[in-house]
Amino acid sequence: MTIKTQFWQVKGDSKAQGEADQAAIAAAAKLLRAGGTIAFPTETVYGLGADARQTAAVESVFAAKGRPSDNPLIVHIAKEEQLQTLVQPYGDTEKALMRRFWPGPLTLVLPALEGAVSPRVTAGLNTVAVRMPDHEVALRLITESGCPVAAPSANRSGRPSPTLAEHVREDLDGLIDGIVDGGPTGVGLESTVVLVEAQGVVRILRPGGITPAQLREVAPTVLLDESLEAAAAPRSPGMKYTHYAPRGSMLLVHGEPDNVRAYIAEAVRAAKEQGEITGVLTYDEHAASYDADVVISCGSLMKLETAAQGLYVALREFDARDVQRIWAEACSSEGIGLALMNRLEKAAGHQIIHV
Ligand code: TXA
Ligand code: MG
Repeated sequence: MTIKTQFWQVKGDSKAQGEADQAAIAAAAKLLRAGGTIAFPTETVYGLGADARQTAAVESVFAAKGRPSDNPLIVHIAKEEQLQTLVQPYGDTEKALMRRFWPGPLTLVLPALEGAVSPRVTAGLNTVAVRMPDHEVALRLITESGCPVAAPSANRSGRPSPTLAEHVREDLDGLIDGIVDGGPTGVGLESTVVLVEAQGVVRILRPGGITPAQLREVAPTVLLDESLEAAAAPRSPGMKYTHYAPRGSMLLVHGEPDNVRAYIAEAVRAAKEQGEITGVLTYDEHAASYDADVVISCGSLMKLETAAQGLYVALREFDARDVQRIWAEACSSEGIGLALMNRLEKAAGHQIIHV
């Protein structure tokens, strides 16, 4: 079933309180209140929002994305006061993390207040994931709607997350009520999801825009959840689960830079001989080394923030150009590199080689 998707363009600049922007945000907020599904920009990626308290609205989000219903959603808020209506009392470490990183790309998993949001949001868990996005348009939309806004990334399930409104349109036009276009997102990868355990230990469930080193400035003990370690291990047949995936088959190549380049160059040559459309995902510093059909640099190795911003655009570009085989160069796992490598591993369906 197709529905008419409305589009609004807003500047997203706090100084540009244009009447058109205000009217667009008011219209989108009204649809949210009425149980609609609205895609909007955040500082990480575009989200697909619905009122977290309305089960039918939340179900529309799952349906539009084609998302498995056992994967819970993040609730987005605009003010810390909104938290009291959603969660039970929490500790000092949580408070310190909020003070330091909100608004910003950090999601906290907190004990839920029973009945505060639809059980479809939490997938029946007794916790709820909450964040306050650092984006003027998102904050205005949430405030104006008066709703806690449940919002997964605004892509079809299994596709790369959207960093442009155009990506949302590609995936969800005709499936959702509206798209607020606020230009490109900032970080380019999703928020860091953490859980605070006894003694203020911070467990990273998903690496993202806030790095472990940044978290350590607030909480001395920061752990990576085991599920993240396991994800790095070579997959066994049948265990493959892809996420953020391009349509072509992708292999992530680790190793000394010279070995990596030699390995990929030879693999590309062999695949071309077989008549396959080849692609290489690399960095500015190495892009000239390859003669695959499609060579894309996601950014600079000297500034991995740029590679984080460019990753999902690059993955979508391989799809747009019908690339069948993709080789991706691994990068350092320092800083934002941890989140970048996590997304590359997932995009590759855990097909990883060390050379
Ligand atoms: O940057 C972001 O976080 C973006 C923007 C739109 O805010 N949102 C996003 O949502 O990435 P989504 O649905 O694609 O990812 C939500 C993540 C999933 O890994 C989910 O398993 C986890 O948060 N999550 C949600 N609720 C949870 C809970 N109660 N306990 C543990 N993990 C939870
Ligand atoms: Mg997602």
